[in-house]
Amino acid sequence: MGPRSPPKRVSISHSFTSFFLGFLIPCINAAPLGPESDRVIKLPSQPATPSISQFSGYVTVNEEHGRALFYWFFEAQSEASKKPLLLWLNGGPGCSSIAYGAASELGPLRVGENGVDLHFNEFAWNQEANLLFVESPVGVGFSYTNTTSDLTKLDDAFVAEDVYMFLVEWLQRFPHFKTRDFFISGESYAGHYVPQLAELVYDRNNDTTRYPFINLQGFMVGNPVTDDNYDYTGIMDYAWSHSVISDEFYHKIKQACDFKELNWSTECNALVNQVFDTYSEIDIYNIYDPKCLINTTSSATANKIKFDGLNRVRILAEGYDPCYSPYSEMYFNRPDVQTSIHADSRGEKWVSCNSSKEN
Ligand SMILES: *[C@@H]1O[C@H](CO)[C@@H](O)[C@H](O)[C@H]1NC(C)=O
Ligand SMILES: *[C@@H]1O[C@H](CO)[C@@H](O)[C@H](O)[C@H]1NC(C)=O
Ligand SMILES: *[C@@H]1O[C@H](CO)[C@@H](O)[C@H](O)[C@H]1NC(C)=O
Ligand SMILES: *[C@@H]1O[C@H](CO)[C@@H](O)[C@H](O)[C@H]1NC(C)=O
Ligand SMILES: *[C@@H]1O[C@H](CO)[C@@H](O)[C@H](O)[C@H]1NC(C)=O
Repeated sequence: MGPRSPPKRVSISHSFTSFFLGFLIPCINAAPLGPESDRVIKLPSQPATPSISQFSGYVTVNEEHGRALFYWFFEAQSEASKKPLLLWLNGGPGCSSIAYGAASELGPLRVGENGVDLHFNEFAWNQEANLLFVESPVGVGFSYTNTTSDLTKLDDAFVAEDVYMFLVEWLQRFPHFKTRDFFISGESYAGHYVPQLAELVYDRNNDTTRYPFINLQGFMVGNPVTDDNYDYTGIMDYAWSHSVISDEFYHKIKQACDFKELNWSTECNALVNQVFDTYSEIDIYNIYDPKCLINTTSSATANKIKFDGLNRVRILAEGYDPCYSPYSEMYFNRPDVQTSIHADSRGEKWVSCNSSKEN
C-alpha cells in the first residue's frame, strides 16, 4: 500500500463559445480526416454495420529514447466535424485504455466472449464526441520505449509530459482537431493523470511562443483515485455496508487504521489486505454478479494485487461480462488483430494491466 502523491488542483475556465469553430466547419468537411496510413479498414470479426471511421497507430513522444504511445481513435458517429474531441485514459497505473475504455466500456466496438467477436456498443460515447484512447505510459499495452531505463522513471510528471507530447504530435497528424473543443477524461488512477495533464496543458497554453495552443475546455474523472483517506474510507464503508465484511471486522479496521496517515500501521495493513482477499471470491466492480473464473494473466493476478481494487470501474450496463479483461487479451493478442490496428506487441504478450507498473 504505497502512499500516492496527492493530485494537484487545477481550475479550468469553461468557455463553450464555438463561434470560431462554426466558422471553420465547411473547410473541415471538405478535407480528409486523418492520415490514410493510420486508418483501420476493418477489424477481424467487426460487425458489418454500422460503419465506423477509426484510426490507430503509434505517435513518437521522444525520439532520442525511442518512446512511442499507441492510440486508437474513433470519429463521432454523426456530425463529427461539429463534435468535440475527448481523450480517455485508464489507470492502474499500468492498465490499458484499449482493454478497458475502448474495448469493454465506452468505445463503439466491444470484445465479446472468448475474444472471438466484436459487438457494436449502442451506448458508445462517440455518439457525442470524437473519441481518442491512448495507452499510457510506455510499457502499457502496445506503447513502448527503446530505452529500458525509462521504465523506472514513470512518475506522474513523466507520464503527463509524454501524453502532452503525444497530444501535440497527434494534432499535427490530425490538424482539423487543432481548434476543436477538447476534453480530457478517465477513470481510476487517471483520477491523478487527468487533472495533472489538464494543468500542464493549461499552463502551456499561456505561453504560445513556445507551445501550440490546445483548446482545452474541461476534464472529467469517474471512479477516480483522489486521496488515500477518502478512497480507503470509501472502500471499507462499501465493503461493510454490502456485507462483504462483518460489523466486528469493520470496527477493527476503524480502530487500527487512520487513512489520513501516509504510513499505515502493520495491523492496519494486514486488515486491509484481508478485505482485498475477500474480494478474491467476489467481483469488486459488480458484487452481485459471478466472478470471472478464466485462468489468465489478468484474472489470476487480480486476486493478488492489492491495488487491483482501484484499477477499473465496474460496469453497470446490461450484458455485463465479468470476463471482459481476459477476453480483451484473447482478442488483442491475435496477429490478425494486431496487423489491422497497426500494432506490434514486439514478441511480448499484450496484457490488460501490466502489474509491474504499480508503484
Ligand atoms: C525503436 O527501435 C526500433 C528498432 O530499432 C525502431 O524500428 C523503432 O522506430 C524505434 N522506435 C522509436 C519510437 O524510435
Ligand atoms: C511491463 O512493464 C515492465 C517493466 O516496467 C516491462 O519490462 C515489460 O515489458 C512490460 N510488459 C508488457 C507485456 O508490456
Ligand atoms: C501567464 O503568463 C503571464 C506572463 O508571462 C504571467 O504573468 C501569468 O502569471 C501566467 N499565468 C498563468 C496562469 O500561468
Ligand atoms: C512506517 O511504519 C513502520 C511500522 O510501523 C516503521 O517501521 C517505519 O519506520 C515507518 N516508516 C516511516 C517512513 O515512517
Ligand atoms: C491456473 O493458474 C494457477 C496459478 O497460476 C495454476 O497453478 C493452475 O495450474 C492454473 N490452472 C489451469 C487449469 O490452467
